[in-house]
Amino acid sequence: MQIQFLADRPEVTPVIAQWYFEEWGRKNPENSVAAIHRRLRRETSREILPLQIIAIGEDGALLGTAQLKLREMTIFPERKFWLGGVYVSRQVRGRGIGAALVNRVIELAQRRAIPELWLQTYAKDGGLYARLGWIITDHLLYKGEEVTVMVRKINDGAP
Ligand SMILES: CC(C)(COP(=O)(O)OP(=O)(O)OC[C@H]1O[C@@H](n2cnc3c(N)ncnc32)[C@H](O)[C@@H]1OP(=O)(O)O)[C@@H](O)C(=O)NCCC(=O)NCCS
Repeated sequence: MQIQFLADRPEVTPVIAQWYFEEWGRKNPENSVAAIHRRLRRETSREILPLQIIAIGEDGALLGTAQLKLREMTIFPERKFWLGGVYVSRQVRGRGIGAALVNRVIELAQRRAIPELWLQTYAKDGGLYARLGWIITDHLLYKGEEVTVMVRKINDGAP
């Protein structure tokens, strides 16, 4: 497996748009696969946040994706950098691809001297993220859903 930027393989964008819509987009009637696709195309970059990374199998198939992004939860404007959009294709879950994507986003944050990353998950115990060193900070109701918010210290500010 290889981890690349979506910018390296923009032709897989429609698959990611479909995944995101099925997983999270349906709840919002204003959302559509096409709208998610347009946003992903607009945001595709190797340098400027949001950064979208993808896991690619030996056969070139798209296995999963994740984002390093700015300000996800509007109630926390001071929490600047977020891990988001972590998604692994159903057929290949439970093989460590999610963990590899999360760890790559952490590396990208380290290189940018980002002090800490935040995320929200439906997993009350933090699931995968708790195992990877993320700490639960909040359990709250957000946009009608019970979510768990977690933080991961990245850089301590030391030279
Ligand atoms: C969460 C997800 C990315 C994990 O991908 P994966 O490649 O299977 O991850 P790994 O193999 O590294 O680790 C598997 C662990 O993820 C954890 N997990 C599953 N769903 C989770 C979730 N929503 N949040 C956090 N952890 C989760 C489980 O603890 C699982 O362990 P198990 O196999 O013992 O049950 C994948 O299940 C997925 O795409 N789910 C749908 C989208 C989603 O819920 N994304 C997370 C949003 S915060």
